[in-house]
Amino acid sequence: VRQILAILAIVLTAAAAQARDVEITMVSDPGLEATGLWSYVLPRFKLKTGIRVVVVYGNTEAGGDVLLLRDFTRPVMANGEGTGFGATLARTSPHAAKLFEWLTSVIGQRTIAAYRVDGQQMFFPITQEIAKEIAPLVGNIQIGEKTALAKCGRCHVISEKNKFGGIGSTPSFGALRALEDWRERFGKFWTLNPHPSFTQIEGVTKPFNPERPPIIYPIFLTMDEVGDIGAYLQTIKPKELGQPLVRN
Ligand code: HEC
Repeated sequence: VRQILAILAIVLTAAAAQARDVEITMVSDPGLEATGLWSYVLPRFKLKTGIRVVVVYGNTEAGGDVLLLRDFTRPVMANGEGTGFGATLARTSPHAAKLFEWLTSVIGQRTIAAYRVDGQQMFFPITQEIAKEIAPLVGNIQIGEKTALAKCGRCHVISEKNKFGGIGSTPSFGALRALEDWRERFGKFWTLNPHPSFTQIEGVTKPFNPERPPIIYPIFLTMDEVGDIGAYLQTIKPKELGQPLVRN
């Protein structure tokens, strides 16, 4: 038994040493502490990379491998009031660099955008480019179905509820859902034809050109509504495509 314990002790010490190896420190703006953002985001980063990030709330003087402050070298996000926060790589270790890159990667930005308090999005990817790529798939499924029926159902068959609605040439939501890359397509549908000519997403799209108003009745959406639709889309049963046509 003693031998086993001794081996166990060695194994555990080794594991602990390894765990310590992949630990870095991030100095965060103190204003972010109360939001709970990091306890949502950083465990997800750890899951992907195995790197544990210890957060210290303070300023540049607090040291740290990565700084996430109002002064920064690379923008990361803004809060609801539009205050910007960004990252600075303070020590160039590979692990610190990984966190630095991840924060502005599509996955990192999506994770930040997905964080909610009482259903409210708290932080917004700061660069338009990135914001454009991101449609949250987090939201209220029931509201998502209602919103989709009201705003997309004019052209798309959404569910049983508008089975005979929609426009023939337009893919049903079930058919969209069956595409392998449906997330990517949905994630920027407002940039894909024919939508740009009639779709406005609050805070994301440019206003319509007043000289060329939309010829189709326009749809207006907030990013929250897009999230609701995304959440609903996730629950839709993908239509079976590629099955031989059965004619009766
Ligand atoms: C005025 C008609 C119309 C409305 C309203 C509309 N769409 Fe579409 N949508 C289309 C058509 C037509 C296509 C097929 C485009 C093609 O195949 O090139 C399409 C395709 C799509 C695609 C696939 C895009 C691609 O290129 O693969 C997505 C995703 C999509 N729509 C999402 C939505 C969502 C979400 C809404 C509601 C918020 C919506 N659409 C509202 C007409 C519409």
